[in-house]
Amino acid sequence: MLTVAIASGETTSSAQLVAALQQTGIVKSIKQWTIPSDRFPDSADALPDVVFLDLSRDPEAYFTFGAQLRRIRPSIKLVAVSAIVPPGHQLMLEAMRSGVQDFLPKPASPEVLNEMLARLAQDSSEAKDRPSLDKLIVIMGSKGGVGATTVGVNLGVQLATFARKHVALLDFARPLGNVHLLLDLHPRFTVRDAVDNLDRLDSHFFAGLMTQHKTKLEILGGALQPEEWQTIPVPPLERVVNVAQNLFDMVLLDMGSQFSSEWSPILRMARMILIVAEANVPALWTLERRLVALKGFGIEPDRARIIINRWHKGDDEVLRSIQKDINRPVFACLPNDFRKASESINLGTPLMENHNNVLSGRYRQIASQLTGMESSPAAKKSALGGFFSFPTKR
Ligand SMILES: Nc1ncnc2c1ncn2[C@@H]1O[C@H](COP(=O)(O)OP(=O)(O)OP(=O)(O)O)[C@@H](O)[C@H]1O
Ligand SMILES: [Mg+2]
Repeated sequence: MLTVAIASGETTSSAQLVAALQQTGIVKSIKQWTIPSDRFPDSADALPDVVFLDLSRDPEAYFTFGAQLRRIRPSIKLVAVSAIVPPGHQLMLEAMRSGVQDFLPKPASPEVLNEMLARLAQDSSEAKDRPSLDKLIVIMGSKGGVGATTVGVNLGVQLATFARKHVALLDFARPLGNVHLLLDLHPRFTVRDAVDNLDRLDSHFFAGLMTQHKTKLEILGGALQPEEWQTIPVPPLERVVNVAQNLFDMVLLDMGSQFSSEWSPILRMARMILIVAEANVPALWTLERRLVALKGFGIEPDRARIIINRWHKGDDEVLRSIQKDINRPVFACLPNDFRKASESINLGTPLMENHNNVLSGRYRQIASQLTGMESSPAAKKSALGGFFSFPTKR
């Protein structure tokens, strides 16, 4: 992860650059300086890894600024962003003299920035510590109707309330998103607005697209028309997820039961993929195939975690046998509670903490495990739908 700064004299142009940088997913923080600058950074510690000089008609002030930065921190990388492409001979000379290493055309796209930053990151030791923001948890159903959305919503609520995290839940389910129904919310904006406004989608704009629940969980509404996904391309969603990761502590993504290679960049980026299944033949059959397919996408088996929903005691034998077949442990089991689950879904009220409610207790347990609040998750063994105590491979 890199730290960057933008030196600019024009707010629209620098806002576009902020949005594009946040969409790359490899930038940790972005400082913004105004040129001509009134206050000059004086210590090397306060300086970022990369500085973008957002050149205007009078580039000289930017080059002087850049040269001064290099005097304070010689290892700083300077990148000029210019509307004049290709830059003229004189401009190139001045840029080189002040230590500019790269020239990018305006407006700079996230793809171009990504490639260039990855190159610069190779020389920066700090940049290697974390390859991405690592805040994304994808929730998918092994097949339709197994409870992926219920898991996403209730886990999100527990992470926001019990674990006190700033949590987003992105509703990318196809064909329709129904996260808002489970929370009795009426989103004004949806995933459609995010992809339609990529040119200005920075964390500030993104915050405005979110709808907040009273538990402080924030959702990005899903598709509201059955045919909407025909015109929502999947690749830009990676950029939407990156911006979300800039803004939130944790980002949950309900992708429903869809599965295609188009999604592999997003799946690869995820810290964890929770696959929700039930302990019956069709759900376990599809689960097995999904695990193989995820491996084919280059996702380490350890990052795909299995959640068995609607569990009851009689399922244990079949689960033991499936764990042997797939050579993977079940991550968590959520007990079957038709009354509580359907009451919650129909009223649009998430399952909240309640001493008699085993189901919400389980969600809380998963939330603490995901946030590292529980030291030995696999060791928790209880009769009803407890975490399995089968040894994990890690
Ligand atoms: N632990 C549970 N016990 C009993 N019923 C449950 C439980 N969890 C979820 N359900 C029920 O299962 C049904 C399907 O849930 P949900 O909509 O979350 O599934 P989904 O996988 O998101 O479906 P889709 O494929 O349509 O997106 C709902 O009626 C819900 O109330
Ligand atoms: Mg769903």
